[in-house]
Amino acid sequence: MGQTSESSGSSNSSLAAAALRADSRIVEARRLIAEAVAEHSRGIQKVQAADPDRSDSYEKLLSRLADTRGGPPFWPYLSAGLGQGPYVELADGSIKLDFIGGIGVHGAGHSHPAMIDAALDAALEDTVMQGNLQQHPPSIEMSERLIQLACVGGAALDHCLLSTSGAMANENALKIALHHKFPADRIIAFDNAFAGRSLAMAALTDRPTYRMGLPLALNVDYLPFRDPANPERSTRWAVDELHRLLNRHPGRYAGFWAEPIAGEGGYYPGSHEFFKALCEPLREAGVPIIFDEVQSFSRTSKPYAFQHYGLDEFADIVTVGKITQVCATLYGEAFKPKGPILSQTFTGSSSSIATGLKMLDLLDSGECFGSRGQNVTRHEYFAEQLASLSRKYPKLVSGPFGEGMMIAFTPGDGSVDQAKRLMMTMYEVGLLGFVCGANPTRIRFLPPPATTTSEHIDDAVALLETSLLQFAKQID
Ligand SMILES: Cc1ncc(COP(=O)(O)O)c(C=O)c1O
Repeated sequence: MGQTSESSGSSNSSLAAAALRADSRIVEARRLIAEAVAEHSRGIQKVQAADPDRSDSYEKLLSRLADTRGGPPFWPYLSAGLGQGPYVELADGSIKLDFIGGIGVHGAGHSHPAMIDAALDAALEDTVMQGNLQQHPPSIEMSERLIQLACVGGAALDHCLLSTSGAMANENALKIALHHKFPADRIIAFDNAFAGRSLAMAALTDRPTYRMGLPLALNVDYLPFRDPANPERSTRWAVDELHRLLNRHPGRYAGFWAEPIAGEGGYYPGSHEFFKALCEPLREAGVPIIFDEVQSFSRTSKPYAFQHYGLDEFADIVTVGKITQVCATLYGEAFKPKGPILSQTFTGSSSSIATGLKMLDLLDSGECFGSRGQNVTRHEYFAEQLASLSRKYPKLVSGPFGEGMMIAFTPGDGSVDQAKRLMMTMYEVGLLGFVCGANPTRIRFLPPPATTTSEHIDDAVALLETSLLQFAKQID
């Protein structure tokens, strides 16, 4: 990729930056780096226990981390800086099978050669970070690619703003909607929503502990989400609640904000019928519809989950993040702000933009999408194995739940304590998954869509079974 003379303009004369990238020393250096990475990561292909000789130094690192961040991390993960596919080496010498990937960030696994190459290309740039006053051609390309993918089914998403976090992408989305509907100042979201950790997103996120001691920066009303056990009844309930809200606060709603698949809330899929039943009255009431795809992007049969559910006509504003490396807010021409309400010193690192572009290529070449694409067929394969664990250990596993490459199960009695206990047992055994939801609390997996194989899934299921047998003894 990089800033070639083609991507930077139409002149025939070569740019110095393009000449640098074409320099045989650079080409050879990149080749040698790729060769060395391949050689050194070759052994990272199955789970391995920590090296006891590293135990003290690892503990010291963890305690330094706890000191600097003001508390211990959720789990003792410190990467060594190398991996292969879903396997990652930690600084204690252990190798884990990473089926959570920093919550969905590692879409091609660890140390993917194409991602490293893209990052090296970005490292040659004049600046580490791109931003409002310093944009480069790959930023344009990233925005154009996200727009083009979003519009395939007819969604009217003309513009794209890059940003450095999912929370900031959502901030921009809400600013666009609030500005468009001023003076309307209320937002509709779902029970159990998670939108990020900024002040406004803490108000939107439906977790009282996450806004503990914080002022409410937004007025939010909540609807019940789709219940897979009772799809029709839960849809009727949500629609009735929506009408109640629209009647209670006429003209006061500036936006409906929704994750098409509830992520942190517990991996509850939406559906075409559910969202259509809500989006039609919202349209009629003139309430902008925002889909948060920060976790769901690239994990279903289509790049965007709103496309997977056939909701293209309703997508007014859409946010993405995580797997795209650089986050973004897409919106239609009708929502273009009339004043300078959107800007940032940093839109993303040069490296996150280059690797984000490469990730889109890898998702495409990995044949992730389509009604029988890898996301769908791998889900079926994984789900069948989880279902078989559930049949074998009905007291330990219920499920599976989720959609595509967002897959979860409920361990034991569904309590937070038991879910955390199993998650940590899995961690010790070598399988990384992470909790989500409350009542019940589940364990979710976000396998890398671009590189997961059935062998990786077999490995994960074997490690899960070992963990379940240990977990059974702990809760006995
Ligand atoms: C659906 C959703 N939206 C927004 C966010 C916030 O993203 P970030 O942590 O990059 O700010 C997350 C993060 O988990 C998310 O799952």
